[in-house]
Amino acid sequence: MTIWTPELDDGGPRYRRIAEALAEAIGRGDLASGEKLPPQRQLADRLGVTVGTITRAYAEAQRHGWVESRVGSGTYVRRSAEEEDTTSFRAGQPLDRGMIELGMSLPPPHPLRAQGLKRALEAITDSPEALRAATDYQPEAGSEAQRARIAAWQGGLGLPDDPDRLVVTQGGQHGIQLALQVLTQPGDLVAADALTYPGFIRAAQQAHLRPAAIPMDEGGLDVDALARLCARQPPRVLYTTPDLNNPTGARLGEARRERLVALAREHDIWLIEDAVQYLPQANRGTPLVELAPERTLHIFSTSKVLAAGLRIGSLTAPERLLERLGTAIRAQSWMVPPLMVEAACRWMEDPDGRELLRWQIDELAARRRLALERLAAYAPLSQEGSSLIWLPLPTGRRSSEMQALLARRGVKVPTPEPFCMGSEPAPQALRLCLGPPASREALARALSIVDETLSEAPTSPWQTL
Ligand SMILES: Cc1ncc(COP(=O)(O)O)c(C=O)c1O
Repeated sequence: MTIWTPELDDGGPRYRRIAEALAEAIGRGDLASGEKLPPQRQLADRLGVTVGTITRAYAEAQRHGWVESRVGSGTYVRRSAEEEDTTSFRAGQPLDRGMIELGMSLPPPHPLRAQGLKRALEAITDSPEALRAATDYQPEAGSEAQRARIAAWQGGLGLPDDPDRLVVTQGGQHGIQLALQVLTQPGDLVAADALTYPGFIRAAQQAHLRPAAIPMDEGGLDVDALARLCARQPPRVLYTTPDLNNPTGARLGEARRERLVALAREHDIWLIEDAVQYLPQANRGTPLVELAPERTLHIFSTSKVLAAGLRIGSLTAPERLLERLGTAIRAQSWMVPPLMVEAACRWMEDPDGRELLRWQIDELAARRRLALERLAAYAPLSQEGSSLIWLPLPTGRRSSEMQALLARRGVKVPTPEPFCMGSEPAPQALRLCLGPPASREALARALSIVDETLSEAPTSPWQTL
């Protein structure tokens, strides 16, 4: 039986602090799913509180769904999301029973995520003014007050913080779509790193744009290759993720950023800077939007910081594009639902939201260390602060074969195919997302399966003929 004894922070009622300490211990993996909690009297004695305080704390934790009490037996950590088959999912598809998801780029699960949203929604329902604003039409770009609050939050994260150039979006994908809508015409040439976020590739296809894949290496986009393309035919737009390429994790070096901006100025190229893959500020380079604010559209989103389902993000653009952006939003859906913008703003302002981000940064750092250690034999690539691992496969191994074998063994990963901007063959590699597993234990299990599968001899493709 666990003798779990939390260290309690100051502030707030004790029962709530104990319940929150429980949530954190579960999130960190200190308390495993299904584990029995100490009997109430024992914990009360250890913490020097009354049994009533512990009863209330356990009841609070149960109310949030973190623990469950079993009559006559005690209180147990609720089975993890994964064991309840909620870790693995593909958007719009049924959950895959028992799979460990390493394919979707999501922040690590934590009970504070649901709690943050709950508190934000409760605060809205308690505020007649917020309710009234949420039921009204608002300006297309978002209300002035909400834009200012999102800008202030972004400023705290070291991201663009000018509310007058910020448009509220329904997440990063919407930001990409809006940017393409106002910048391009069908048939325009759009360039991006040869391997890039599939959502951009699909949006460009849907807008009937012509793709140009720019070669890349560990230092990011090859700016000389872009210069050669510009000499032949400058693209209208360059889309890039300079701080963290998705899928390879490459970061664009400072000198390349300067050259890229110079080229963009010389050939009048618009830059779309996608910063959705959140990295702590210390791990980022100089934003393109800072180097070339007159031609850069900067995209951010709450998806990797608060929750993907919120669908709230921002597009920071040069002033001369704001009217066109407003028209595009109005033509699509009039505005982003103000209720969701308000929920996101309240959550951004909740001190627990900041606490959650601090936890997430530490948790992802621990997960990254674990992955780099477990897979060290295969020279995995991952920059500090990232939740992605790029794993070039040993000679003779193929991504599709690995994907199929891992799926059979309960681990979901994508192949690099959907990340290919052009028609060059995809590299034989895997991208592992460290965020989605319910706990570090689940991640460790998945990594062992990846390791074992890689260490076996390749399977024969004859079987499938
Ligand atoms: C680089 C990049 N841009 C945009 C998105 C989409 O973000 P959102 O979920 O906010 O639409 C993702 C999602 O993984 C991404 O990796």
